Amino acid sequence: MIRIGLLGCGTVGSGVVKLLEKNAATIAQRSGDEIVVYRVLERDRDKCLAVGIAPEQIANSIEDIVNDPEIDIVVELIGGIEPARSYILQAMRQGKHVVTANKDLIAVSGKELFETAEENQVDFYFEASVGGGIPIVFPLKQSLAGNRIQQVIGILNGTTNYILTQMSRSGRDFNEALAEAQALGYAEADPTADVSGLDAARKIAILSSIAFNSRVTLDDVYVEGITGITPEDIRYGYELGYVIKLLAIAKEDDSGQIQVRVHPAFLPVYHPLAAVNDVFNAVFVQGDAVGEIMHFGRGAGQMPTASAVVGDIIEIVRNLNHNTKARIGCTCYEQKPIMSIDELEVEYYIRMRVTDRPGVLAGIAGVFGNNNVSIATVLQKSSDNEMAELILITHQVRERSLRDALAVLSGMSIVGQINNVIRLEGTQRKAV
Ligand code: NDP
Ligand code: HSE
Repeated sequence: MIRIGLLGCGTVGSGVVKLLEKNAATIAQRSGDEIVVYRVLERDRDKCLAVGIAPEQIANSIEDIVNDPEIDIVVELIGGIEPARSYILQAMRQGKHVVTANKDLIAVSGKELFETAEENQVDFYFEASVGGGIPIVFPLKQSLAGNRIQQVIGILNGTTNYILTQMSRSGRDFNEALAEAQALGYAEADPTADVSGLDAARKIAILSSIAFNSRVTLDDVYVEGITGITPEDIRYGYELGYVIKLLAIAKEDDSGQIQVRVHPAFLPVYHPLAAVNDVFNAVFVQGDAVGEIMHFGRGAGQMPTASAVVGDIIEIVRNLNHNTKARIGCTCYEQKPIMSIDELEVEYYIRMRVTDRPGVLAGIAGVFGNNNVSIATVLQKSSDNEMAELILITHQVRERSLRDALAVLSGMSIVGQINNVIRLEGTQRKAV
């Protein structure tokens, strides 16, 4: 029998208890052993009792779990940085294998956790930390290990995907769509980490560390959220053949430089990620041998997330049954440079209000030209009070050059306002 010490019996923790119970016979056959939740550390005892944990199984302190020689695996589902970090380190130092779903912690303290796992020769698995129920960490580490990964592009936050989907379908503005997401329980009461892009940034930091074998932390990720996106941008983008998504993008170029960024982006309507709507997540991977693949599913929720946690537990039990451990440790054996956002070269959508009279377009085009920004498409909309709305799509251009051009334009009397600038992604990919 394999005994689990569970830290946290909230949404995901209680899902893990339920799933281990519901599929106990199948799980025992697949893993080769009976798996039981043996002891639980949880502030709110009622949450434990509600899922059938007996009162005597509820621990009084972390020591009750990490010092118990009967416990083989510690599953951390309390979330946050502390005390989760200390609890995991304590468990590893006592020779316990660890499973977690804690993206916040891995994105900032991954190095310390992997090193401690290595020193103590224990398994450290974290599939649920990215994409909830979607298998992506293990596939990158194992099934795709023969590839040089060229890019990983994810829709990694369900809340923002729901908001952008609603804005696109119904023309609602950001605040209305956010209120709806909160009413339906998709968005947290405090949705800051989601709408600011921080949640997706943590997840892409984890995925890029694995994909490129180089430690990427949260500080390395360029982050923009979705609060500045308007129904007008979505409508104009759609007219031009694009769909807006909050993308988490990680790429490695031929020189070994990595770019890691989270921001709203226009995707061509034919891109596979463009069809990922509502709260769903997806991860699009390109490897030099496998080509393009996409993993799709629920990025959060009690049972999808429990599915990933239980998968990790089963993998550890299989290891234990074959007298093996710490087989796949830290994959970051290189340190690759991170590209500054200034050096990024992509196409851009720009929406601005300008004076509507002869020569204005030529003046604007001149500023772009002087800064090496080449225009691909121009759309003019709704002239009122002698002002027009101008929508431009550029060719691929360096971000620094675009910013220089916009700085000049924003000081010109013919430019009323630069309303929005949104990067394009996936445009080099052919429709299939
Ligand atoms: P919950 O808040 O529902 O559960 C956490 C539980 O741990 C709560 O019951 C909490 O009690 C308890 N707890 C917190 N700190 C302590 C402590 N120091 N000692 C004892 N108990 C403690 O969170 P979730 O289940 O939603 O999330 C757990 C982890 O899974 C997080 O890392 C999260 O990021 C991750 N995750 C969650 C997903 C989801 O869909 N929910 C999806 C993917 C990952 P109290 O409420 O009293 O504070
Ligand atoms: N808040 C996240 C989301 C789920 O909306 O996708 C947990 O990572």
